[in-house]
Amino acid sequence: MPTLEDDVERIIFREAAILTRLDELARRITAEYAGKELTVLAVLNGSLIFVADLLRRIPLPLKLDCISVSSYQGESSGNVVFDQISLPDIHERHVLIVDDILDTGQTLDAIRRKLRAEARPESVKICVLLRKIKTRLAPVEADYAAFDIADEFVVGYGLDYREKYRNLPFVGVLKKTRRHGDAEI
Ligand code: PRP
Repeated sequence: MPTLEDDVERIIFREAAILTRLDELARRITAEYAGKELTVLAVLNGSLIFVADLLRRIPLPLKLDCISVSSYQGESSGNVVFDQISLPDIHERHVLIVDDILDTGQTLDAIRRKLRAEARPESVKICVLLRKIKTRLAPVEADYAAFDIADEFVVGYGLDYREKYRNLPFVGVLKKTRRHGDAEI
């Protein structure tokens, strides 16, 4: 029986390598936020697996909240709509936004701008699993990034293609033949 893995052309980061890197990232974040009121804001759905593994390595009394946004006009659009009515209460808290990938930057830029404008946090930083090496369409960069990657279409460890492949335990490049429409998937 064909498996999800058969749709992957190449594995980029295996689970063990990801977790080793998360150990380092978690140590840096723990040192930076020790003694501060930290709220981790996970961007649904892509960050779920990353944030679960990362937070279990950060022994601080942090709060966890989630935020859900929808993008329109294609894969990486500039039109970001917030799905929830109210933002979490982050007034005077240090916020670390956690997402799976920084691509054009439009999603994280929109989230950060909205938080700063409407929720008055003490500080806002950004942590991503993957940072694509490319020119951004919005003025945003990651404060913490587990890995830099080329501008390829990746899935797994939370990242999807049409909501599939999030549960692969590694990050890999999807076969081009798997991206040509639902009929072939
Ligand atoms: C993906 C990803 C980031 C964003 C990155 O979200 O999770 O949030 O796109 O792209 P950008 O830097 O070009 O804005 P998506 O809307 O696919 O939702 P998902 O997290 O549910 O997969």
